[in-house]
Amino acid sequence: MNTLVLAYLVMQFVTHWKCLGGVPQLVVVSLDGFPKEQLSRHPWEHLTWVYAHGSHPRRFINQFPTKSFPNHFSIATGLYQESHGVVGNTVFDPNLKRILTIKDHELFTQNPGVMPLWTLNEQLGGHSGCIMWPGCDGPFNGRNVTYWEPYRGNATLTELVDLAVKWLTDSMTPANLVFVYHNQPDLAGHVYGPDSSYYSDELKKVDAGIGYLFQMLQLRGLRQSVDVVILSDHGTASVSAQTGIIDLNTVLNRNCIPSPAPPRCLISGLFKKDLYVYAKLQNGSRANHYRVFLKENPHMQAWHYKDNPRISSITLVAEIGYVFQDFRKYIKGYQEEGYPGLTETFGDHGYEVDNPSMEPIFVAVGPSFRKKFIAEDFSNVDVYPLVCVLLGLPPGPNNGSLDAINTMLARSIPLQLMPPILVALGTLVLWMLLSTQVT
Ligand SMILES: *[C@@H]1O[C@H](CO)[C@@H](O)[C@H](O)[C@H]1NC(C)=O
Ligand SMILES: *[C@@H]1O[C@H](CO)[C@@H](O)[C@H](O)[C@H]1NC(C)=O
Ligand SMILES: *[C@@H]1O[C@H](CO)[C@@H](O)[C@H](O)[C@H]1NC(C)=O
Ligand SMILES: *[C@@H]1O[C@H](CO)[C@@H](O)[C@H](O)[C@H]1NC(C)=O
Ligand SMILES: [Zn+2]
Repeated sequence: MNTLVLAYLVMQFVTHWKCLGGVPQLVVVSLDGFPKEQLSRHPWEHLTWVYAHGSHPRRFINQFPTKSFPNHFSIATGLYQESHGVVGNTVFDPNLKRILTIKDHELFTQNPGVMPLWTLNEQLGGHSGCIMWPGCDGPFNGRNVTYWEPYRGNATLTELVDLAVKWLTDSMTPANLVFVYHNQPDLAGHVYGPDSSYYSDELKKVDAGIGYLFQMLQLRGLRQSVDVVILSDHGTASVSAQTGIIDLNTVLNRNCIPSPAPPRCLISGLFKKDLYVYAKLQNGSRANHYRVFLKENPHMQAWHYKDNPRISSITLVAEIGYVFQDFRKYIKGYQEEGYPGLTETFGDHGYEVDNPSMEPIFVAVGPSFRKKFIAEDFSNVDVYPLVCVLLGLPPGPNNGSLDAINTMLARSIPLQLMPPILVALGTLVLWMLLSTQVT
């Protein structure tokens, strides 16, 4: 009798292991353009709590160029930009012979083998939700996500949190993986620069939104079963419209391709004249604040920003705080939008990864993560294999590594091995009990 009860309990435990919190639900929140260096510059009501109760790396490394869509797609796929093909917010695709923007899903589907985490999760029977995450509004491998919210520039973090919690707690098909994208503080950084009071105010709102997220999880009884990763794609740097704009027309009569790409500029399609153009640009870089790289330059290889036809033969990168002339179009846009309190100071990103003001944030908190733990440096391509471990998904080919990121996990046994181990233990206990009864 006792044996049967015990056997029943063991089997129940194994079957309901997921519900018992063995495989947590996961929410990944991206705060676009949140610079790590801002963490030490303000008092935080909620982020301080998150850091104290979770794990973070000494340094979270992003990919060059430090632009939004490329880095968000590296996080979702575990691939360098040259491998996933989103090599800029806007790219010129020489095979399609046209410029692709965020409105074209082809921006994200150059490599047909690429399957972002949300699709991988759906294929393995999970339910993914995406709130405005770049690339998530079209199918991969012929498959859409279960829950999807399109981009709205005016959406507040509070609204996004409400939506995420609604999906997590759906009674029929609860989402086990939700990606949340918030366009702040990036927008305030561009319009006002990171040293303005408008920017500080936006940071306060973002902090309050994070507080609201944990409050809602608490309220819905999800604090013990939901893991939360809060990260960003890059930081931001102050740009002066008076002294920070480089006019390439004074060096070479040519614009960046595709045009709106400061502080990085790709110049392509020049064939035999490339070396002449390169020499001109190289000469111009002596009097201007930018660097020039041919594809063959070792930096391009080190940045994994080389092996893709969407990357042109010449890449220019402005020094921190400088932008190319196309930036004037943005300024005009901000003026037309009627943002209050505009000055001559703006902000931008896209610079080299080693620049401290481009460094993004990463902090993970929840049942799977150690508390108050600092891991060694890891890269945003390492997030993909981490999520695979957390959700028990088989990772596809990727450029990530678990070496540093795995140290944040509270349990040393990989989570996907837990069910088989429990089954084995249950069987062993059963066998022992049965054999004692027989003898
Ligand atoms: C994915 O969603 C889009 C737009 O909502 C729709 O047009 C398309 O048919 C869907 N594809 C699949 C495979 O469900
Ligand atoms: C937010 O923007 C959308 C369009 O993107 C618009 O339909 C909606 O009315 C706006 N909401 C508010 C509160 O401004
Ligand atoms: C090189 O740059 C200098 C200004 O820094 C300019 O005077 C000169 O004409 C340039 N040379 C060529 C070959 O473009
Ligand atoms: C990144 O991963 C892809 C897919 O496995 C692979 O093709 C590529 O060579 C990797 N890149 C590097 C620099 O290792
Ligand atoms: Zn961004």
